[in-house]
Amino acid sequence: MKVALFVAWFATVLAAPPSQGSTALQYEYIVVGSGAGGGPLACRLAQAGHKTLLIEAGDDESKNLNTTVPAFQALVADDPNIAWHFFVNHYQDQTRAQRDPKYVYETAPYQYHVGANPPAGAKPLGIEYPRANTLGGCVTHNALIWVTPHASDWNNIASITGDNTWSADNMNQYLDKVYEWQPIGPTDPTILVSDLMFTQHVLGGAAVMGVGPTPVNALTGMLQILAEDPNNRINPNRDSTEGYFQVPLTQQGGQRTNIRDHILNTVAEGYPLTIRTNCHVTKIDFNGKTATGVSFLDGKHLYRASPKSGGTGTPGSATASKEVIISGGAYNTPQLLKLSGIGPAAELKNFGIKVISDLPGVGTNLQDRYETFVNVEHPNNFPILNGCTFQNFDGTGSDACLTQWQNNPNILAQRGAYATNGVASMMGVRSKYADTRDLDLFIFSGPVDFTGYFPGWGKATVQNHNFFSWYSLKAHTRNRAGTVQLKSADPLDTPVINFNYFDTGTTTNGADQKDLNSLVQAINMSRQALKAYNDYFILGGTSFVETKPGPSVQSQAELEQFVKDTTWGHHASCSCPIGADNDPNAVLDSKFRVRGVKNLRVVDASAFPVIPGVFIQSPIVMLSEKAANTILNG
Ligand SMILES: Cc1cc2nc3c(=O)[nH]c(=O)nc-3n(C[C@H](O)[C@H](O)[C@H](O)COP(=O)(O)OP(=O)(O)OC[C@H]3O[C@@H](n4cnc5c(N)ncnc54)[C@H](O)[C@@H]3O)c2cc1C
Ligand SMILES: *[C@@H]1O[C@H](CO)[C@@H](O)[C@H](O)[C@H]1NC(C)=O
Ligand SMILES: *[C@@H]1O[C@H](CO)[C@@H](O)[C@H](O)[C@H]1NC(C)=O
Repeated sequence: MKVALFVAWFATVLAAPPSQGSTALQYEYIVVGSGAGGGPLACRLAQAGHKTLLIEAGDDESKNLNTTVPAFQALVADDPNIAWHFFVNHYQDQTRAQRDPKYVYETAPYQYHVGANPPAGAKPLGIEYPRANTLGGCVTHNALIWVTPHASDWNNIASITGDNTWSADNMNQYLDKVYEWQPIGPTDPTILVSDLMFTQHVLGGAAVMGVGPTPVNALTGMLQILAEDPNNRINPNRDSTEGYFQVPLTQQGGQRTNIRDHILNTVAEGYPLTIRTNCHVTKIDFNGKTATGVSFLDGKHLYRASPKSGGTGTPGSATASKEVIISGGAYNTPQLLKLSGIGPAAELKNFGIKVISDLPGVGTNLQDRYETFVNVEHPNNFPILNGCTFQNFDGTGSDACLTQWQNNPNILAQRGAYATNGVASMMGVRSKYADTRDLDLFIFSGPVDFTGYFPGWGKATVQNHNFFSWYSLKAHTRNRAGTVQLKSADPLDTPVINFNYFDTGTTTNGADQKDLNSLVQAINMSRQALKAYNDYFILGGTSFVETKPGPSVQSQAELEQFVKDTTWGHHASCSCPIGADNDPNAVLDSKFRVRGVKNLRVVDASAFPVIPGVFIQSPIVMLSEKAANTILNG
């Protein structure tokens, strides 16, 4: 096994274009990271005629079904060819952190124990945080959900920086730019109504939002409900309008379609875009305080977050005559800046790194959403999942749902369960604890057993076909206290990531308690939906038992403890924030420029000062399109 891996790695290195002598690789722009932040920007720079190098640590997995079948969204995050598993701390106090049943211990390299009673000698790691290292970044493995940001997200950046190009009115044009290449569509509702037990749950949610049809009109009523688009651009009050909505997805014809396709199309169309995959950038190169290019290691799975890591790579470098743009995501961008001498001087000196720009804000201000859930178990399976073995998890050697998906490429309604991410509808709610008029809770559901992220979560989520989850995302969270710090000066090491949840983070004006209350409200509303499910017994669904939080968790105090112990997030952001000129913690100016140096910008989730919107991929790609315009015309 070891030998085979080594041979595969060696072959890739040989296949990589020559980089020796560094003068061989000369570009106008270098973009590091091909995800939501880097991908669209690199395409625009090349489309404008600029010789652009897009460097990506992972490889192109477009032939891998895990990245194209929407229903495999749970599997793909565990795919060792793509996964970067970070282990983060929700709480620094490990005794408290270990109350989470998802807490992970390492028993041998890349072997894990999850939850209580670890074997003797197991090393405590923390909570798994999935990331993708592959062409397209995390959009290649995410849950496909596309909800556009709130106007307040942009107007806030405009008011912090005084740069009115960030106003929501002006940002609208970048959504149009994104729609030039990003198709969006909800799950085909006819796929859904083929399963009346699933439909019955969906109607329970509609009832909570006051739009549940009468039981006799259940089916026609539901098709009407699923016509509601949460991204409605015509309603001026869209951001504050509660309701029950369809879930828009980054898909076309039932196949995941996104930035990766956009990048590959841009190359195919002949624009001067060079993609260098399997290449890990280790340092930004400077001449004095001017960024001139990057140093890297060529090789597959070099970073230790990869379960396949082990190689050391072949060094190389490339130069950028105009600019270097870092788009490595909320963890890797601050790590790379620090390794290159940009960050808090004391931390850099600790690791013997020469300080180029003393920026105390790098790796601070890390934010995320909070998520929670209610799961139930039925005695029988959901019919929509009949024959869905999720690539043979049951060992039968067949996957009828995959065959159906493959055999009907042109008829969405006939592609079946695999043409959806499993999440068809959602409650959009303004919780009782919101500070503004904007909605701050999105409560979704699907026929899965989802409890958050841990090694093997994908399989655990989909292997049983008799579970149903209601899970909630808290938007406009108030915690600003997360950090990303170096563990060592080794660029292949993962950083130390602390989120400092709830009372261990931002507590000003009861911030932590308000977020907690909203999450408890979300659990209560999920339970109301389950209650309303019973009003639609005419559809024939069986009864169920609540497995989590479980019947014993009822009082406000019990619910708060459940949330504190089990909450997770997956929209990490804000760790290299844009800020005002007089803000000592601002890392970027309003034009994405890294303060204190020249020819260097950051364009990805880490650039936001405050976590935007409800789902983060759409604000990031809008930001990426804005960055392209700023660089080309500003
Ligand atoms: C399981 C999961 C589900 C999600 N579902 C949704 C969803 O449904 N909707 C939604 O809106 N958001 C979702 N998200 C979040 C969203 O996909 C990410 O927040 C977003 O993709 C982040 O974009 P980014 O450009 O900042 O970083 P990324 O997309 O992570 O891209 C960074 C890229 O940089 C590369 N890179 C990093 N460091 C280096 C280096 N040193 N050298 C070379 N390359 C490097 C990485 O390999 C990666 O490809 C989900 C996330 C996860 C983990
Ligand atoms: C998809 O990911 C799963 C892990 O969740 C893995 O077992 C499987 O081999 C992957 N499939 C492909 C085609 O790579
Ligand atoms: C949630 O429900 C419990 C039990 O009914 C109740 O005591 C609590 O006040 C509710 N909390 C919120 C925030 O809605």
